[in-house]
Amino acid sequence: MTEEQRLKREILDLKSKRNAVILAHNYQVEEVQLAADFLGDSLELSRKAASLTQDVIVFAGVKFMAETAKILSPAKRVLLPRLDAGCPMADMITVDDLRELKSRHPRAMVVTYVNSSVEIKAESDVCCTSSNAVQVVKNIPAAEIIFIPDENLGSYVQKMVPGKKLHLFEGFCYVHNRIKREEIEAMRVRHPLAKVIVHPEVPPEVAEGADEVLSTSGMLNYVGNSAAREFIVATEQGLLQRMKRENPGKDFIPAGNPKICSNMKRTALQDVHDSLSQDKYVIEVDPEIAERAGRALREMLQYG
Ligand code: 13P
Ligand code: SF4
Repeated sequence: MTEEQRLKREILDLKSKRNAVILAHNYQVEEVQLAADFLGDSLELSRKAASLTQDVIVFAGVKFMAETAKILSPAKRVLLPRLDAGCPMADMITVDDLRELKSRHPRAMVVTYVNSSVEIKAESDVCCTSSNAVQVVKNIPAAEIIFIPDENLGSYVQKMVPGKKLHLFEGFCYVHNRIKREEIEAMRVRHPLAKVIVHPEVPPEVAEGADEVLSTSGMLNYVGNSAAREFIVATEQGLLQRMKRENPGKDFIPAGNPKICSNMKRTALQDVHDSLSQDKYVIEVDPEIAERAGRALREMLQYG
């Protein structure tokens, strides 16, 4: 038996002993994707966390995702296998920054991307993910919105909802913000029949040159349903691995060099195993913050 097979078998045993479930984000390393009970984008995983019946959730992703699961499912024990798996974008805005924005725009509602801290969510009216940001902004009862922290996602939403005024913050994802329009154009020349699909965290000029702007699971659905055979995909490499596995007859080409989120890649299968066997790392959220952040998260689940 290989080391991977042994680990997988032990994980199965531990899961049944502890009545646990493994949720994994689409950017996880392939061995972790394959060990997951549910694989998805931020919105799918939030919904799943809110509806699970098991006692323990192992969240293979980054910290804000495990915190979201804990807030939406407070009675469960939520474990994050690596405490150092954070999202740098989530730490770019402070509560003081947000309060300052609120004082400058007192009539605006606050829409916060889930890639944010629990303290920021607690000061927000409603959260969103990359897959429902446009829906949330379109449908909330406000003409003026403070949209934080991702400026690129905010610019995309502003373009899609021109009737509302968005005030943006200068946060960004270091993985997607580096993607260049020239890389996409060079790939289009080499693959003229390919569809170009990009995540909304890319810079505006990259989104403008794309055929589709989609969340990670939105991209996955799109490639599964499209008649095209080739896709230039501008997002983290983990999703391309899932696309290849689930669509063996189609070709998926990264936009330039493969894009890697080192935070998402920290969690190995061994970490998932140790998380279950050593009960680590338990995610706790201050109850008063969780109550307020939970309101913004549950509000989001009403919209899409
Ligand atoms: P999705 O919600 O589209 O999966 O995106 C999460 C994320 O962190 C993108 O960088
Ligand atoms: Fe955060 Fe970007 Fe990594 Fe997503 S890909 S977790 S936004 S750093």
